[in-house]
Amino acid sequence: PDIRKTPQGDFMRPATRTRMSSHSKKTNGVGVQVEETRICVVMVGLPARGKSLIAQKVVRYLDWLSIKAKCFNVGSYRRTATPQPAASFFDFSNTEGERLRKAAAEAAVNDMCHWFHSPGHLIAVLDATNSTKSRRRWIKERCDSEGIETLFVESKCDDEELIMANIMEVKTTSPDYVGQDPEAAAKDFRERIKMYERVYETLDEDEADMTYCKIIDVGSQVIINRIQDYLQSRVVYYLMNLHIKPRSIWISRHGESEYNVSGQIGGDANLSPRGAQYAKLLPGLVAKSAGDRPLTVWTSTLKRTAQTACHLPYEKLSWKALDELDSGVCDGMTYGQIEKEYPQDFAARDEDKYNYRYLGGESYRDVVIRLEPIIMELERSENILIVTHQAVLRCIYAYFMGVSQEQSPWMEVPLHCLIKLTPRAYKTYEERMSADVPAVSTWREKGSKAEHAQTPGPSARPSPMIPAMSK
Ligand code: ATP
Ligand code: F6P
Repeated sequence: PDIRKTPQGDFMRPATRTRMSSHSKKTNGVGVQVEETRICVVMVGLPARGKSLIAQKVVRYLDWLSIKAKCFNVGSYRRTATPQPAASFFDFSNTEGERLRKAAAEAAVNDMCHWFHSPGHLIAVLDATNSTKSRRRWIKERCDSEGIETLFVESKCDDEELIMANIMEVKTTSPDYVGQDPEAAAKDFRERIKMYERVYETLDEDEADMTYCKIIDVGSQVIINRIQDYLQSRVVYYLMNLHIKPRSIWISRHGESEYNVSGQIGGDANLSPRGAQYAKLLPGLVAKSAGDRPLTVWTSTLKRTAQTACHLPYEKLSWKALDELDSGVCDGMTYGQIEKEYPQDFAARDEDKYNYRYLGGESYRDVVIRLEPIIMELERSENILIVTHQAVLRCIYAYFMGVSQEQSPWMEVPLHCLIKLTPRAYKTYEERMSADVPAVSTWREKGSKAEHAQTPGPSARPSPMIPAMSK
């Protein structure tokens, strides 16, 4: 495909030839495309098929890429009138239930259409069962009339055991069952599913005119129909890479380097003696956390990450995309030198660290763009250990924990600390393990001139929590 780089280094697509009413000519935050396409991703499927989880992941992924997205969950609209309905509420012959559910869907669609009126608001996810053809046709017609494209995403799964596990994992603790016995909640939820099964219609040839992606048995088969443009294909490609097997991702910065000790940024320095000590301790730290699970280690192409990973007894892969943020003309300088030689740049970086691009180098925004294939590969993979650099680690962490662009470049990630991330439904769990090897702190607070500070080591100083907004 014809994807070009803008002078700012952002990716853009040439304008499509046919211009529909859903396109406006503005460029979004990352310049992902020249024209804006507004898309409503319409979730489809029986209850407990992972729709909400998929919806939230898509929104988090797009947010991370600076593509403005929002999820409209019809269940939470329904809950305002009917907070804890019994299964019979979802019986399609229950006229009052039907009326209230249609009203909730209408309220969500109205809010969504209103949300699209704001500039830059590009993708909404309408999270509901949308389980009948008539409901889907109604949504499509409404979106068509507003100039919004629709992408229907169905999750179809008949694995009884998996559905039961889903119910126990997320449904018994849903707001619909607060304060209720989990066994009774699970039983009622199964009844609810039966109500839906009576009228459920899967996407089929009757809807051949619609754009859709049908994910069968958690991605073992994916059927796509009429995917029309770049953003739609990007969302579909992301969905195709998701899996729900239990796994963890470990991330660590490289051990302390000679540049860290001298306070210089960038470069391709060797590990310091203390960094080498961390490298020796790392296999033990990993084994303690991962046990005998199979693991693959990813490093950057820079010496300090390879040296840190050298004692790890696992398959290794090195990625250019994991190299540290390129500090351009400032490479090899200390923060103090940068402040002296490039005072305006130093101040501009503090003002907007996420967007500031070093002269001849990169910004955090640039790093996120080059990390996208890494995130895609991480979604496809199981247990991975990534040994990388401060800025890159912040960006990867921000994706999994939903940290904002304002916060992520300022997060403190100490050296000689292994972070374990375990994605579960709706939330990524985090655990930190410090190796008892002192290291300098390379963290610089906004507005401070601090050189890399000497610290007594992680064990003597509890590492402050990274601001995290996990979902
Ligand atoms: P409801 O219609 O009641 O809102 P839902 O379809 O939105 O249900 P979720 O609340 O998202 O269901 O269910 C989350 C559970 O689904 C998690 O346990 C997750 O592991 C599992 N899951 C995620 N993706 C899929 C999938 N493609 N197929 C089946 N289960 C999935
Ligand atoms: O100091 C270590 C380091 O990895 C540098 O090489 C890099 O420029 C810097 O951290 C990134 O952190 P910040 O964005 O906070 O300057």
